[in-house]
Amino acid sequence: MTPDGTPRIKLAIQKSGRLTDNSLDLLTRCGLKYSRRKDQLVCFGENMPLDVLLVRDDDIPALVEDDVCDLGIVGFNVVEERRLARLAAGVSSPFEQVMSLDYGRCRLSIAVPEQRRYDGPRSLSGLRIATTYPHLLRRWLDEQQVEAEVVTLSGSVEIAPSLGRAEAICDLVSTGATLAANRLVEAEVVLDSHAVLIRTPGLLESAREEWISRLLLRMNGVQQVRESKYIMLHAPRSALEQISALLPGSEHPTILPLEGTDEKVAVHAVCRENVFWETLEGLKAAGASAILVLPVEKMLP
Ligand code: PRP
Ligand code: ZN
Repeated sequence: MTPDGTPRIKLAIQKSGRLTDNSLDLLTRCGLKYSRRKDQLVCFGENMPLDVLLVRDDDIPALVEDDVCDLGIVGFNVVEERRLARLAAGVSSPFEQVMSLDYGRCRLSIAVPEQRRYDGPRSLSGLRIATTYPHLLRRWLDEQQVEAEVVTLSGSVEIAPSLGRAEAICDLVSTGATLAANRLVEAEVVLDSHAVLIRTPGLLESAREEWISRLLLRMNGVQQVRESKYIMLHAPRSALEQISALLPGSEHPTILPLEGTDEKVAVHAVCRENVFWETLEGLKAAGASAILVLPVEKMLP
């Protein structure tokens, strides 16, 4: 509780790994100022009733399920594995997925040693596949109607083939450096993943719900702004339709008169998708001039 009685929200994020920096950056962009003492696993929010717990990513779903934390940011791979595990145990919807986040892209893939011949899923028949994601792997094997043995490990999956514990692996790949270093080749993608925000399923007390809604709105704003640009240009009236159609992800451009001419107007628009050089070249070819592209700092729908 804060002095004025507002309950504090607890958000769990990965302690050290692919999601840590981006998650802290997202929270900072949402306006959170926090203090973190060296080696401390909690960041205390100074200007919001929000504390950030830094934990192992695999522990995050359980922390949210058990109401130790209200929110968590974790890879979709971890969420899906947990969901399938609970489903298999006959327990349903342990947490709610509230938002997809635009970072932490990676994939859960099956990889085989370089020297092993691979011609499609059938090549995996009868093999031992090592993984820390047994439920996701099992589901994929079933879908492919491949019979293989799932060897569940708790880590260091990539060395299982060289230790003779398995003939293939199923693990996360992002740059591919880990596979290359272990002379493994990616064979199949089992799941595409990215960061997601999860929360406890039940309704919380209203002050807490209110802060969670505010945070979600800000997170949405931050994500939209990342790709958004403000475009200003001059356009011949005759080419307005063509030029408007070229503005990526903008709904209602503002059209303004220009002093001293009737043939040309100024067009202002927020583009919610990336604006590439090719876009600008297209606009110019359609007759636009004096094109300016500005970054958007903050945005609320
Ligand atoms: C994953 C995976 C590999 C590495 C792959 O581990 O287990 O070790 O990332 O990344 P690369 O393709 O860029 O080399 P992660 O960092 O997610 O740690 P964890 O599985 O222990 O949570
Ligand atoms: Zn992990």
